[in-house]
Amino acid sequence: MSNPIVQVRNLTKRFGDFTAVDNISFDIHKGEILGLLGPNGAGKTTTIHMLLGLITPSSGTIHMFGLDLAQHRETILQQVNFSSTYISMPFSLTVEENLKVVARLYSVKNMQQQVDSIIEKLEMEDIRTRLTRKLSSGQMSRLTLAKALMTEPKVLFLDEPTASLDPDIVDKIKAFLKEYQRNAGLSILYTSHNMREMEEMSNRIIFLQHGQIVAEGTADQIVQRYAQRDLEEVFLKLAREPKAQ
Ligand SMILES: Nc1ncnc2c1ncn2[C@@H]1O[C@H](COP(=O)(O)OP(=O)(O)OP(=O)(O)O)[C@@H](O)[C@H]1O
Ligand SMILES: [Mg+2]
Repeated sequence: MSNPIVQVRNLTKRFGDFTAVDNISFDIHKGEILGLLGPNGAGKTTTIHMLLGLITPSSGTIHMFGLDLAQHRETILQQVNFSSTYISMPFSLTVEENLKVVARLYSVKNMQQQVDSIIEKLEMEDIRTRLTRKLSSGQMSRLTLAKALMTEPKVLFLDEPTASLDPDIVDKIKAFLKEYQRNAGLSILYTSHNMREMEEMSNRIIFLQHGQIVAEGTADQIVQRYAQRDLEEVFLKLAREPKAQ
């Protein structure tokens, strides 16, 4: 197999004497969608924040495109983007203005064309001129996803990107991301609390519990290993296990 696009080794994050992410290692390959699964507080967002260079790991290493994030932050982050339902944006700008700010920051070529194209793909024509502070949470999710995709990243971190979207747009966004993954060879790290979505989207899944990886494999492999009917049952089983001391 080719060299991984993202290589995480022995990554740990402590907040005071609390360990949020506990010595995890994993790879993401080109064109792969890796699902990061786990109960509230398992360490998913903390892991993504370390991968984005937003917080500094307590120990361990992160390499992307063969480069160490600690030393090549700018080069790496130009090729990476992020979307989350819980992100904040300049609220006094319109949707289109926000997208243009991002396009300028990332030196996106053919800016107006790219903005128009992403607005069309994510069905945002009706909110193009609306102020960002007036958006519903689902419209906001679409805007943050548009922002992330417009920069044509090689790696995309999606932290609960579909959390407040209606089923129709979730379905379209899933299809859109899959197509993007196939055509652009985009690698994605994805979190969601919707198990069916996890099964459909992820080529491989990592299950985090108390900051540690407790299961890893395809959805089918994980379901079989735990002798459950589906991922939701595995989730309930693992999430309800007491923490090993
Ligand atoms: N800045 C911080 N200071 C102290 N503790 C923190 C900080 N950030 C996160 N934590 C703690 O680290 C743990 C992991 O949080 P994290 O946000 O990574 O969980 P998560 O897996 O994303 O959960 P969710 O499914 O609820 O989004 C939680 O117990 C959280 O309270
Ligand atoms: Mg989270």
